[in-house]
Amino acid sequence: MSEPSATKAFVIGHPIAHSRSPLIHGYWLAELGLPGSYERIDVAPEMLAEFIAGFASRGFVGGNVTVPHKEAVFALLSTGGHELSDEARRLGAVNTLVALPEGRLRGHNTDGAGFVASVDEAVGSGWENEAGTAIVLGAGGAARAIVGALLDRGLRRIVVANRTPAKAEGLRRFAPERIEVVASADLAAPMREAGLLVNTTTLGMKGQPALDLDLADLPERAIVADIVYVPAETPLLAAARARGLRRVGGLGMLLHQAVPGFEAWFGHRPAVTPALRAAIEADI
Ligand code: ATR
Repeated sequence: MSEPSATKAFVIGHPIAHSRSPLIHGYWLAELGLPGSYERIDVAPEMLAEFIAGFASRGFVGGNVTVPHKEAVFALLSTGGHELSDEARRLGAVNTLVALPEGRLRGHNTDGAGFVASVDEAVGSGWENEAGTAIVLGAGGAARAIVGALLDRGLRRIVVANRTPAKAEGLRRFAPERIEVVASADLAAPMREAGLLVNTTTLGMKGQPALDLDLADLPERAIVADIVYVPAETPLLAAARARGLRRVGGLGMLLHQAVPGFEAWFGHRPAVTPALRAAIEADI
């Protein structure tokens, strides 16, 4: 009897050496004993269209898309009879690709749902009912994904603060009646009502300045989340710990956003476990 053929998936980016995704998918493939592979592929921007058009005929069932290709892949899938999920359409960005029959592709974006799942994992579901106001710091691609997912979860009021306020204003088009933009200097009042505060900026990342924010005004039940995962405890999370607040680290979003792709390509829903976390943390 022949061996079952190995399913092949990829992550594309430029550069791509830093991507942790091969570690995550490799861990799950080994844990589940599946005959698949997941490889890093550096695709320069000028080669992207050719790669997207040809990967299925090279035997790949799909893959992840990372910086700087998420928006360009969205544009490539916007014509030619391909499918785009509602999340991908809302964000104008694709992070997960699945090959469909007859040369068609499906583009999805799992970043926002990955964030929300990481909050569920850390504090248990139901937090959205007591959160009231959510504060989102930053207005880049990750912030857009997170704001979209928080709206889907039913958060009634989302306050966005960003160094460049015009970018935060752009985010309001998702739900103008539920999203407010404030200057970073004016966060004290929203902080008093916030059930969730999320840092989506690069501040606090290893080698970057810390996010300078006083958490004294947050209610005792507030949750503080940081999508930065290097270091595992950012200065923001350390400040939240000092105040005894519930905390969500950035690694969870990275792990949870990977789940739907793995399930689509390899046919098994993988679990985000403490052992997986330990394996990835050991490597970063
Ligand atoms: P991502 O895809 O991770 O969201 P991004 O789109 O480059 O990355 O967004 C980075 C975010 O971090 C932006 O909100 C950026 O603020 P600007 O919109 O003003 O650029 C924020 N950011 C990066 N460096 C910052 C700094 N030194 N101070 C404040 N905000 C910063």
